[in-house]
Amino acid sequence: MYDLLLLNFGNVWCCLAASPPNNTKKRSSGVAAPPPNPHQHTLGSGGSSVRIVITGAQGQLGSTLARILADGHELTLVDRDDIELSSPEAIDQLVATSADMIIHPAAYTDVDGCARDPEWAYRVNALGTKYVAMACRRLGSPMIYISTNEVFAGDAGRAYMEYDQTGPINAYGRSKLAGEVAVREILRDFYIVRIAWLFGGERNFVRTVLRLAANPPSGGLRMVDDEIGNPTYCPDLAAAIVRLIATGAYGTYHLVNSGACSRYAFASEILRQAGHHDLRITPIRLADYQRASTPPPYSPLLNIAAADLGITLRPWQEALAEYLTTLA
Ligand SMILES: NC(=O)c1ccc[n+]([C@@H]2O[C@H](COP(=O)([O-])OP(=O)(O)OC[C@H]3O[C@@H](n4cnc5c(N)ncnc54)[C@H](OP(=O)(O)O)[C@@H]3O)[C@@H](O)[C@H]2O)c1
Repeated sequence: MYDLLLLNFGNVWCCLAASPPNNTKKRSSGVAAPPPNPHQHTLGSGGSSVRIVITGAQGQLGSTLARILADGHELTLVDRDDIELSSPEAIDQLVATSADMIIHPAAYTDVDGCARDPEWAYRVNALGTKYVAMACRRLGSPMIYISTNEVFAGDAGRAYMEYDQTGPINAYGRSKLAGEVAVREILRDFYIVRIAWLFGGERNFVRTVLRLAANPPSGGLRMVDDEIGNPTYCPDLAAAIVRLIATGAYGTYHLVNSGACSRYAFASEILRQAGHHDLRITPIRLADYQRASTPPPYSPLLNIAAADLGITLRPWQEALAEYLTTLA
């Protein structure tokens, strides 16, 4: 089953197909042309398929987007081996793909690494994003930039709306916000999609908790109870991004599974759903968890703008239940 979505490129409309995620592993390999199929979609009346570049295509979100968009589009899956985004040469390399659209989830996502090396975080997340935006401007193509809840300070005492004041408190958040600024400076046709607490790929919080549960440390698990966010399931997010792109309503969006919780509550729910009922889990404070980065403590995102377009994500607990079935 496919969803067919109308897609607007400037003044030209075409269709975007979203196939449901499957378990096919697609590796980054330069240009990956999907086989012809009856759902091939055309740009305008010219008959050419939509050329989409996905950066960070081996990452959690990038690989999910690549799977979901594989049918009916000409995908160019870009990873670090193909294009080093922190280098200005990335601009020409991306322009050479003749992309109709660039989706840019690639980033230096190690938040503690960003704290230790803020200049590298800036080079990849801010300048790298600027180079992607410059390529989009030369191509006349829209850009989808994936940003983060960590652009907010986390001290408002409530969830953040799309146009709330940003104020990152760590190097990762500052570098990602600088990426947003670059996109807004350079392009008119863009989606900035802020997300949070991804799970669904190879390395994520759910897998970490399950690994710990299988071999628990003496004294049980200790999880932070005063860092609040929105657990977000990659396939749900990728499907929502595809629907958003189809609207042509450029702008800034928050796409997360609905609901918010602490790391402690998230871990407790993972253990409950996975049947680890007798494992001891103790809440601790952020201040008691030594790490290089300082996360914004209360930074759940509210999806108001996309919800207005009819795009919402289900509660995170339901998404978690589905994810756990894929791990069984
Ligand atoms: N994960 C979360 O919980 C979370 C939360 C909020 C926002 N986000 C944002 O969502 C997006 C996707 O996150 P994710 O967890 O899917 O990321 P991920 O799994 O860490 O993947 C990031 C991808 O970017 C590539 N990359 C890193 N540095 C690069 C460079 N200098 N040049 C080219 N490619 C480079 C990585 O390649 P290598 O593996 O070779 O380095 C990797 O394929 C990111 O923009 C992130 O900031 C994530």
